[in-house]
Amino acid sequence: MQRIKVALGARSYSIVVASGLVDRLSEHLPTGKKALITTKEINKLYCERVAQAIGEHTLILVPDGEEAKQWNVLENLLGGLLDSGLDRGSTIIALGGGSVGDLAGFAASIYMRGIKIVQIPTTLLAMVDSSIGGKTAINHPRGKNLVGSFWQPSLVLIDPLFLETLPTREIRSGLAEVIKYGVINDPELFKLLESKNPESLTAEDMVEIVARCAATKARYVEQDEEDRLGIRAALNYGHTVGHAVEKLTNHDVNHGEGVAVGMVVAALISMEHGLLREKEYQLIIKLIEEYGLPTKLPEIDFSEVVKVMHKDKKAESGNIVFVLPTGIGKAPALRQVGEPTIRKALEANR
Ligand SMILES: NC(=O)c1ccc[n+]([C@@H]2O[C@H](COP(=O)([O-])OP(=O)(O)OC[C@H]3O[C@@H](n4cnc5c(N)ncnc54)[C@H](O)[C@@H]3O)[C@@H](O)[C@H]2O)c1
Ligand SMILES: [Zn+2]
Repeated sequence: MQRIKVALGARSYSIVVASGLVDRLSEHLPTGKKALITTKEINKLYCERVAQAIGEHTLILVPDGEEAKQWNVLENLLGGLLDSGLDRGSTIIALGGGSVGDLAGFAASIYMRGIKIVQIPTTLLAMVDSSIGGKTAINHPRGKNLVGSFWQPSLVLIDPLFLETLPTREIRSGLAEVIKYGVINDPELFKLLESKNPESLTAEDMVEIVARCAATKARYVEQDEEDRLGIRAALNYGHTVGHAVEKLTNHDVNHGEGVAVGMVVAALISMEHGLLREKEYQLIIKLIEEYGLPTKLPEIDFSEVVKVMHKDKKAESGNIVFVLPTGIGKAPALRQVGEPTIRKALEANR
């Protein structure tokens, strides 16, 4: 079992990572009334095991995926919490991927002016990213994640056993974020990933990998809790181009796949700026390929890519802010990059 502390003064909490944790949930949960929020799909897979481990609680089901992150779903959820008599000393338990976690986190932040939330992530992305750090949100018809709050969980309980039922493509998508942590902060994680066969990662490997990622995320969150200082922004490595690719392919290219290609493009730009050596660039590409992720851009119009990136909130005064890797496991540099350099990197990565 690994325990990672997120030190945020009064809002500090632990991230516990262990295989088989799902059967020992009650040892970790706070006392008081509890509501378990999950989807029908996840409930079907894990209801007996989880319900038994949590003890007495109210179950509230929400729609799957992005459908969960809607105003009317939030309103129904709040109604469910009121019906079940949750008070200010109660706890919400979010069981699911990032979509359930984001919705439940937002609900917890506004229900009776804020109650405790425990995150139990069931996707790799949620384990290494969305369950940690307190960003909560629902979507608005005008865009993703536009309505939300910062509300730290009281506890994050991670059991890699949930990954056994997660489709391979979702696992790969999460592994793109894992590789990201290796590049921006954790050379040992990068080496560990190089040394493993991606097809046969054991539960033990996953505990080690997830715990290392969670620790990196925790350190960034501690330094820049509300993402205002440009420190937490380093976690966006690969995401500038990644988001644009996701959007322009109508999500045929999923989040992790977009991030994978985005990491390669950012590495190319970084070499152009003299911040990254060819040898390190090759290591990054090799690892991404080994983990079954794309390194080349799909057939899309580069002008559209640039347009989408400009619209992205990270665009400032014509230039686009990129997170540029400076080595393996070294802090990246945030740089404004002009359009010609971006186009050159996109062309080079066709
Ligand atoms: N708050 C943050 O800091 C943060 C960070 C990154 C992403 N996000 C958000 O996270 C969301 C994406 O999260 P996600 O990638 O986890 O997707 P998701 O929550 O939509 O889950 C993906 C799919 O996997 C299924 N699933 C989940 N766990 C499973 C399991 N163990 N076995 C089988 N199927 C399972 C779900 O039912 C769903 O269909 C986005 O809305 C994004 O905005 C938030
Ligand atoms: Zn991401």
